[in-house]
Amino acid sequence: MTPDLKPLIVGNWKMNGDRDQLDQLAILAHRISHEFQQSVDVVVCPPATLLYVAKTISEGSPLMVGAQDCHNEATGAHTGDISAEMIADCLAEFCIVGHSERRNNHRETNSHVAGKVKACWRAGLASIVCIGETKAQYDACEVDMIITKQITDSIPEGATEKDTIIAYEPFWAIGSTKIPSLKSLKEIHALIRDILVRRFGDHGLRIRILYGGSVRPENATELLSIQNVNGALVGGASLQTADFLAICQSCQSLVRNHY
Ligand code: PGA
Repeated sequence: MTPDLKPLIVGNWKMNGDRDQLDQLAILAHRISHEFQQSVDVVVCPPATLLYVAKTISEGSPLMVGAQDCHNEATGAHTGDISAEMIADCLAEFCIVGHSERRNNHRETNSHVAGKVKACWRAGLASIVCIGETKAQYDACEVDMIITKQITDSIPEGATEKDTIIAYEPFWAIGSTKIPSLKSLKEIHALIRDILVRRFGDHGLRIRILYGGSVRPENATELLSIQNVNGALVGGASLQTADFLAICQSCQSLVRNHY
């Protein structure tokens, strides 16, 4: 953690969840209102079909809502796509971009991701920009090079802590039981911080850097304790309200111990 940055826990439901799951979101919103005293920011990113209703359900609670992807243009002939403006129209505040499942399944490049980040900013959304290496790149010791290139090419000039969050997610750790060693996570997050400061000056000091990839209640405390890990992007465990809350609670305990 970084004591002066408010941590952020983001739940990414991916292509999971229907209207029934919204009962769980209501429970989450209620628990967050009563238990978290604004010490941790919490965002849930349900599928786009549930976005507006999710926002309505969480109204009045500090729970925030985000989307999982957007198109770079505001309107147009792009069947099936959703623009950042449409996401903002659902009253969402965040949008994940460049998730490795999009980079991999939809061949999204760093330059596509940069276009989506600009679209988020244009629509007033904060972008959660995912970066991370594949297993082959990890095995070839190319992590530093890949991360540096992804940050340089996926994030446009002018990023600030208000409109940009980084999520470091090694592709090989997502949906698995594997996570990088705590030592290497510390080094990678320090490298990301360095690059952000070099590119964005003081803003780079305040842009939150999340870790994602197999974050569970059992490993949340050790992962969130690492310097420059300012929160988590949680996939599978965000589908179980109890598990997601347990991760948020671990984060809250760490905040309390820091002050
Ligand atoms: P996971 O997914 O927590 O299920 O590993 C994380 C993500 O893809 O954002």
